[in-house]
Amino acid sequence: MGELSEGQRGRVPFISYFTFCVLPVHIQKVTLNMTQKTALITGTSRGLGLALTHALADRNWSLIMDARGADALKEAERALAAKTDIIAIAGDVRSPEHRQALVDAVEKSGGLDVLVNNASLLGPSPQPNLLDYPLDVLNDVYQVNVLAPLALLQAVKDHAKDDFRVLNVTSDAGVEAYAGWGGYGSSKAALEQWTAILAQEQPGWKVYQVDPGDMRTRMHQEAFPGEDISDRPFPDVSVPGFLQLIEGDLPSGRYQAQTMTGSENHQTIHELRLILTARQFDAALRFYQEGLGLELLEDWSEGNQRGMLFKAGYATLELNNETQAAYLDEVEVGERVAGDVRLAFKVDDTEQFSHQVIASGAKALSGVVDTPWQDRHQRLQAHDDIQVTLFQEIR
Ligand SMILES: NC(=O)c1ccc[n+]([C@@H]2O[C@H](COP(=O)([O-])OP(=O)(O)OC[C@H]3O[C@@H](n4cnc5c(N)ncnc54)[C@H](OP(=O)(O)O)[C@@H]3O)[C@@H](O)[C@H]2O)c1
Repeated sequence: MGELSEGQRGRVPFISYFTFCVLPVHIQKVTLNMTQKTALITGTSRGLGLALTHALADRNWSLIMDARGADALKEAERALAAKTDIIAIAGDVRSPEHRQALVDAVEKSGGLDVLVNNASLLGPSPQPNLLDYPLDVLNDVYQVNVLAPLALLQAVKDHAKDDFRVLNVTSDAGVEAYAGWGGYGSSKAALEQWTAILAQEQPGWKVYQVDPGDMRTRMHQEAFPGEDISDRPFPDVSVPGFLQLIEGDLPSGRYQAQTMTGSENHQTIHELRLILTARQFDAALRFYQEGLGLELLEDWSEGNQRGMLFKAGYATLELNNETQAAYLDEVEVGERVAGDVRLAFKVDDTEQFSHQVIASGAKALSGVVDTPWQDRHQRLQAHDDIQVTLFQEIR
């Protein structure tokens, strides 16, 4: 059942390029002239970079991304390519040839709205004290964390679009004097200072130093070798803060992503889905696919379970036969509870969002459930007997 139902990863993108205007006598497809924005993000094969690319892909940003490891980057690209336009280029941000390839991609994309310098080098771990720090290694750390971000910015600057933004990912180690963090910490301090100066020199841009906070990633595990870091949050927790900087109107400056005002409650709906149980599935299929001309996005049918997903203007419509509807109820709630119509909303964090909607009067019909197809669901009873599923993709 790995291929079933809402929130499934790898689906054809839910794109708002097209809308369907249903006129009294015929159906007309109208193309909206919406401009897709482009972000170049370094270090996106895992960790924060990967989480951020998924969030931006869900918002239909076109993405240019890199990492040194080609296999992991390819895997990330495959998952994202189902959602939006991606150019993934394996390489090291220290390499001028690699940076030129990124610039070529920016040119091909028609310019750049946002640059996120995220790729970073921790250096040796356990980290040596400064008096023992090997200078050739320190040079590498500075190359990746200080010079490459500036070199990349210099290389793309001529392709910066109006309202261009630069987000340089820093760390509390860039402002706090932690013993043993002299190499990485001083590199982030240098990054922060040139970022702050750039903000003064380029008042027409938005220029941010962003501290993502502690996150459960490979770099964090490397920084604390052998330590149990399972109490640290996944990078998704830092993403809403980044999105506020990327899509909001905050002034240039230093921000801490996990503590940004409103960040906890800044929940965005990524998709509205209307879910129908069709007793006459073939008739319903004819009506929605041939009659209304809705585009089929996914077909999850298997055996006697039939389930399909259609693009319906700005929303999607999920059509299930009774067997499939009963299966979904069983997974989410443990019993048959839904009527023939329910709503689903794709969110960033099911658990957090459910607190919000329960506080506004909805009733939980179950706990939060991780589905066999790797989504996190919660079924809720809203007003007037409407059942609502919140769903989040988990990786
Ligand atoms: N994790 C934390 O607790 C924490 C706290 C404060 C700040 N930060 C900052 O947050 C950012 C993301 O860190 P993370 O924890 O997500 O790290 P991560 O899990 O180690 O991911 C780093 C990403 O950058 C890529 N990368 C590393 N060096 C590169 C290079 N020279 N050229 C191109 N790509 C490169 C890595 O892929 P390859 O290895 O294949 O190149 C990977 O995709 C970094 O700037 C870090 O300093 C992290």
